[in-house]
Amino acid sequence: MNFTAEINRRRTFGIISHPDAGKTTLTEKLLLFGGAIQEAGAVKSNKIKKGATSDFMEIERQRGISVATSVLAFEYDGIKINILDTPGHKDFAEDTFRTLTAVDSVIVVIDVAKGVEEQTEKLVEVCRMRNIPMIVFINKLDREGKDAFDLLDEIEQKLGLRVTPLSFPIGMGYDFKGIYNLWEKNVNLFSGDSRKNIEETIEVSDLNSSMLNDLIGDQAADELRENIELVDGIYPNFDKNSYLKGELQPVFFGSALNNFGVRELLDCFVDIAPKPRAKKSEERLVAPEEKNFSGFVFKIHANMDPNHRDRLAFIKVVSGEFKRNTPYLHVRLNKKLKFSSPNAFFAEKKQIVDISYPGDIVGLHDTGNFKIGDTLTEGEVIHYKGIPSFSPEHFRYINNADPMKSKQLYKGIDQLMDEGVAQLFTLDYNGRKVIGTVGALQYEVIQYRLEHEYGAKCTYENLNVHKACWIQTDDEKSEEFQEFLRVKQRYLARDKRNQLVFLADSQFSLQMSQQKFPSITFHMTSEFD
Ligand code: G4P
Repeated sequence: MNFTAEINRRRTFGIISHPDAGKTTLTEKLLLFGGAIQEAGAVKSNKIKKGATSDFMEIERQRGISVATSVLAFEYDGIKINILDTPGHKDFAEDTFRTLTAVDSVIVVIDVAKGVEEQTEKLVEVCRMRNIPMIVFINKLDREGKDAFDLLDEIEQKLGLRVTPLSFPIGMGYDFKGIYNLWEKNVNLFSGDSRKNIEETIEVSDLNSSMLNDLIGDQAADELRENIELVDGIYPNFDKNSYLKGELQPVFFGSALNNFGVRELLDCFVDIAPKPRAKKSEERLVAPEEKNFSGFVFKIHANMDPNHRDRLAFIKVVSGEFKRNTPYLHVRLNKKLKFSSPNAFFAEKKQIVDISYPGDIVGLHDTGNFKIGDTLTEGEVIHYKGIPSFSPEHFRYINNADPMKSKQLYKGIDQLMDEGVAQLFTLDYNGRKVIGTVGALQYEVIQYRLEHEYGAKCTYENLNVHKACWIQTDDEKSEEFQEFLRVKQRYLARDKRNQLVFLADSQFSLQMSQQKFPSITFHMTSEFD
């Protein structure tokens, strides 16, 4: 197969949802369709189970599992599908944000009973900002839930999406009879519970056929006809271009657990989901079809075994072909590196590959060369954009609890920050180090890993910070900026890239500063133009 055909047959996407909506179950069913696994239950959930937040071993065990499920690849209908794992747990939201820089589209899973939940809102917002094409899957139709039209309204309002249903449920919960597929114009009837195998469906191609009445009864048949008429009247027609631009989101209904509605979703997905897209770099837009290889690191996974402290850096191939044993430029280090055993990912395995194409994810063994956001090329200096840090939610001083081990502590902190576990800020006025995280859980992970992987001990001390803002000014010499530096001295810090950060202690103080220093811009993320 030639290079262009290899690009065209790749679909790299992420499934996002609030925990428990059914992401793991859906992933597993997609793999079943691809023949990548033989039975349900093979994909391990790597979510942090409720109540386990203080159980370090559990966290580590679960992190260990997540290496295997970080990327799941399978073939369906000649299409190579790469699913990138996106942790739903809110404490790992940054991981998910970063993974979203490596996907070309997403599927959003929503629980029919719970509707739009908090994590879904946050993740969809990030996708919307980046115009990532989204398909919505409303799950658990075998259970009682919200009315389909109410739910579609809720999705439009809370998620700011413009939806168009491509399938529609017939009944729900106890009365769930199946779905009408507006995409393929047929009816699939739900015939009970089939957790292990792929559901056999009966197809009715004409909505007006009396066969529909025979199958689901007069009342349900009339109701469906009415509902579909309403759908046709209310929602815009599906238009692939609008979907690809992130302006229209098709919606499917189903039950992942019962493998119902999943085939429709998958068939439509392979039909409409985008092939690898061009990516912006600071220098220029890079197209996948370009001959020269380029790619970027979006995730780093540490090996939890202290005897094998190597890490796996996950690279998304943006352009060209990535080849084994070929020297590539590590742009930040300005150094050529070659890789003798790059990994590709299949259902639950990884294996060494000689060649990877745009859209693919390659796992590279790393002994500390990579940071999240690093770019590899064949020689051109390119910096890929779009991996910003967001303001953490929690801030604590980190103290060294074992003075004999300070070297180990700093090395450990340095490496953990490169992996993106948390953010480090160094206060300007006294050099103290502050760790910022999205969730409290990360402090436990850091403490545990520093001790077990680096032999260092730390303690934390609370620090009252409301938000970290990245500071930008056009004129560093201006009186106003100098005044800001003087007045806010105690609240200024440097992040790992040595950018100036203001650690505002309250919403009020942030607002006051914004008013008092109008020539300064206070950014909520570390990346701005
Ligand atoms: P997540 O990855 O989004 O967190 O969700 P996951 O797939 O783990 O699903 C969460 C729970 O919802 C699981 O039950 C799963 O079996 C159930 N579930 C998923 N899809 C459906 C569906 O279509 N219908 C119904 N009724 N349930 C569904 P659990 O009891 O938490 O876990 P388990 O012990 O069954 O694995």
